[in-house]
Parts: sequence; C-alpha cells; structure tokens
Amino acid sequence: MSSITQPIGGHEHAHDDHAHHPTGIMRWVTTTNHKDIGTLYLWFSFTMFIVGGCMAFVIRAELFEPGLQIVTPEFFNEMTTLHGLIMIFGALMPGAVGFANWMIPMQIGAPDMAFARMNNWSFWLLPPAALMLLISLFVPGGAAGGGWTLYPPLTIEQGMGMDLTIFAIHIMGASSIMGSINIITTILNLRAPGMTLMKMPLFCWTWLITAYLLIAVMPVLAGAVTMLLTDRHFGTSFFNAAGGGDPILFQHVFWFFGHPEVYIIILPAFGIISEIIPTFSRKPLFGYASMVYAVAAIAILSFMVWAHHMFTTGLPTAGILFYMYATMLIAVPTGVKVFNWLATMWKGSISLEAPMMFALGFLFLFVIGGFTGLVLGIVPLDVALHDTYYVVAHFHYVMVAGTLFAFFGGVYYWLPKWTGHMYDESLAKWHFWLSFILFNVTFFPMHFLGLAGMPRRVPDYPQQFADWNMVSSIGAFGFGLSQLVFLYAVIKCIRGGKPAPAKPWDGATSLEWTLPSPAPYHSFETPPVVR
Ligand code: CU
Repeated sequence: MSSITQPIGGHEHAHDDHAHHPTGIMRWVTTTNHKDIGTLYLWFSFTMFIVGGCMAFVIRAELFEPGLQIVTPEFFNEMTTLHGLIMIFGALMPGAVGFANWMIPMQIGAPDMAFARMNNWSFWLLPPAALMLLISLFVPGGAAGGGWTLYPPLTIEQGMGMDLTIFAIHIMGASSIMGSINIITTILNLRAPGMTLMKMPLFCWTWLITAYLLIAVMPVLAGAVTMLLTDRHFGTSFFNAAGGGDPILFQHVFWFFGHPEVYIIILPAFGIISEIIPTFSRKPLFGYASMVYAVAAIAILSFMVWAHHMFTTGLPTAGILFYMYATMLIAVPTGVKVFNWLATMWKGSISLEAPMMFALGFLFLFVIGGFTGLVLGIVPLDVALHDTYYVVAHFHYVMVAGTLFAFFGGVYYWLPKWTGHMYDESLAKWHFWLSFILFNVTFFPMHFLGLAGMPRRVPDYPQQFADWNMVSSIGAFGFGLSQLVFLYAVIKCIRGGKPAPAKPWDGATSLEWTLPSPAPYHSFETPPVVR
C-alpha cells in the first residue's frame, strides 16, 4: 500500500527524508501528510461504498418479487436506514474530503493543510464511528430502523442501536467540522503569492463554500439528535406531544441540516466537473465568476427551503407557498452552472477519455435528477408523490449519477497525478458504460413505480409493482458488481502501468498540473516545485 503516494521510478529525489518517518501501518496511523490522509479518506469512502452497497443488495433482493422472502420487515428497515446513513456519512462526504485533502493544497500552492495533525484526527474519528453504526446491527433491538432521517416518535421508542447511531452521528459531525475548519483555513491563509481567491480553481471554491455550509449545519444535526437522546433517556419532551412537545419540531430541525446537506454532497462534485470539462474541451471554464456566484447563491438559498420536505405535515399555506417558490428559485443558479458547462464544451476540442465520459454522464443524469427535484418542489405534485419511489429515484439521480459519477471522473482524472501511472483506459470505459447503463436500469423504473403509487421503505408490495421492481433489482446487482471493474482499474493503476507525464491531459490549466506526477511525497518539508 505504501506505493500509493510515494514517488515511483525517477522521482526518488522527492523524498529523501523517508527514514525519519514511521513505515508500515504506523505511517498511516500517524501521518500528517495531506496526500496520505486524502488516500485514507478515499479508501475509507470506497470501503463504506461497498458496505452500503451490500445493504442495497439486501434491499433489492427483498424487493425482487412481491411477498416476504429473505429478511424480516424490521431488518429491512434497518437496512434502508443504515444504507442511507453509511452512504451519506461514510461514502459520499468522506470521499469529497479525500479529494479536498489531495487537491486543495496542490491547487493553491500550499505546502500542506493548515492544521496537519487535526487533519489526521479528523480522519481517524471516522472508522470508530462507522464501526459503531455496524455494531448497532448486533445489539438487542437491532439498529436504528426509522430511516436515515431518524424521525420521532419511532426513534424515541427504539433500542440501544439508536443510541449508537446518535453517538456515531456526533463523532462524524465532529470530524466534518474539523475537516471544514482545516479547509477554510488552508484556502484563506495558505494560498501561494498571486493566487487570489478569484483565480482559484473552481474545485477550491466549491469546497470553501461547502465547508461553511458544514460548519453551519452539522451543529444543528447534533442538536437534533441530542434532543432525541434526552427525550429517550433524560425525561425531556421536545418531540413528545404528551409532554407538550411536537414531533414535527424534529423535522424542522433535521431538515434545516438536511437540505443544505444535499448541497454539501453535490457542490464538491460540481467542483470536480468544473475541472474536468475545461481540460477535456481544451478551453478555459466559461463564466468563471458566474460559477463562483452561482455556487454561493445555491449555498445561501439552501438554508431557505428546508420545509419542502414537509409539505404534507400541515404547514400554513403561506409557508408552503414560500418554500415552494424558494425551492424553484434554486433552479436558476443551477441552470447557470449547467449552461456554463455546456458553453465550455461549445466549439471546444473535445476528447472522450474516462473522466470526460463520467462528466458527461453526470451532466445528463444530474439534469434529470434536478428536474425531478423541481417536480417534487411543486406542492400539489409533492403531496401526491411524497414518500413514494419517485422521491427515491430523484435523490439517487442526484447522489449516485451526480456525486458518485463526479467522484469516479475525479478519480480517473487525478489518478495519474496521484500514482504516477496512467490507468487502463479500456477498463475505465467499461466501468463507465456498465455504470451508466445499469444505473439507469436500476433507478429509472423507480420513477414509474413512484408515479404508480409505490411507497418507499416498505419490504413488500402488491402484484402490480412486480415487473419494474424486478428490472430495478437486476440493474442494482449489475451496477454493484460493475464497481469491481473500478476497484480493479484503480489497483492496477497503483501497481503499475504506463508512466504518467506531469501533464497527462493535453490542455490542463490548474496549478496541480505544474507538479511532477506523482506529486512529491512529504511536501510539508519539501514545498512543491513549480516547473
Ligand atoms: Cu431539500
């Protein structure tokens, strides 16, 4: 594993201080190097992606045909809950932080992250938190089963699996807040001379804004689950109507976190796409400044739309209308971004290597997810589609075909920089086409199921939903297995392959491409040499 970030062949000069540092497992436990920590985050993210994916396998196997066949309804609920929590807090968010660790210092010409030791601590908080979520499956009463949104009163009634979940969320939140402080400080204080904010690569901008979102909303989630905890064990009644509380209060507090969380997950993906498309179009990003303002506008608006998740809770009509129009307003800056990506490609000298394929797949499918989001933002439609598979289809188009595809593109884009080797292009193309097709086989039918009225989070369904559920399950198994192609392509690239030139993509413009590939190891002691 030590070959992942250490210079290989011809770059030995970059780390003659190797002897001063621990080797083997201790290197990874004690590392303060942003590239090591980025690597740890990315592998952790992929591991959680596989774990959460196995839970999706259980869900799709149970839904393969009508009737209960494999698991109990209780265990099915535990699977949907843990699948959501693990994918969001274990796979997507740490994945984005992994990219941030690797790329932000290189893109702004910083020697490392601002708080290198805190960086180590931010990462190493995550494995115990994930472990706690998984252990909750084996305690009396089982894991939390109320869905990833943890709505009371159900979550007040559940056993100690819920307490483990609350504790895990606190720890992961602390990790996110420390990571965000690190990213903000690095970007604001450690930019190379001449690297003004409005010259930063867009990936840095999206992460800077994401980090502020995280600092704003992670404490709100912590507050929500703490109130849940005190309702459970310390006799409070925040969410208990019998004691004068209100379960709807939880939904308000949760979604004040939950909606910005959607943008926390998608904005770094926007940043990656904004790096890939200009490179493979051989043109600078169209409308750079408007991209920055669009991201900022999305972030600000994200705080004003939370109740669109609560249109069926009996809010006053005036409030419902406000949240509907505010939600639809987000389509404007998002449209600006999509327009700019298309305008960047316009008359460009486009080539279709795997990173660009994933970026185009992202564009196509994310726009579908965006539009179904707009549909759900319209009150009368949301009332009809609330808690149906239409919602499940919508957010998987945003989370999987959006963020996950951007991450895949980002991995292929930067693998030559990270490893010093070119990845196997035909394997990567296979990975793309299998993922693209099987993703749609899995999730497009869910639109039909939702429109036909199939509720989400239920382990069984009437006969009329059988056909599309079977199609969806077949797609899901295929999509999951296709990710082994990705794993194989990445391992193959780490272990060898054609040596990567410093600028593998003809036309790259960001600062990271002025460093040799792989980027020099202990850059904290050896600041990057711009060539
Ligand atoms: Cu929302």
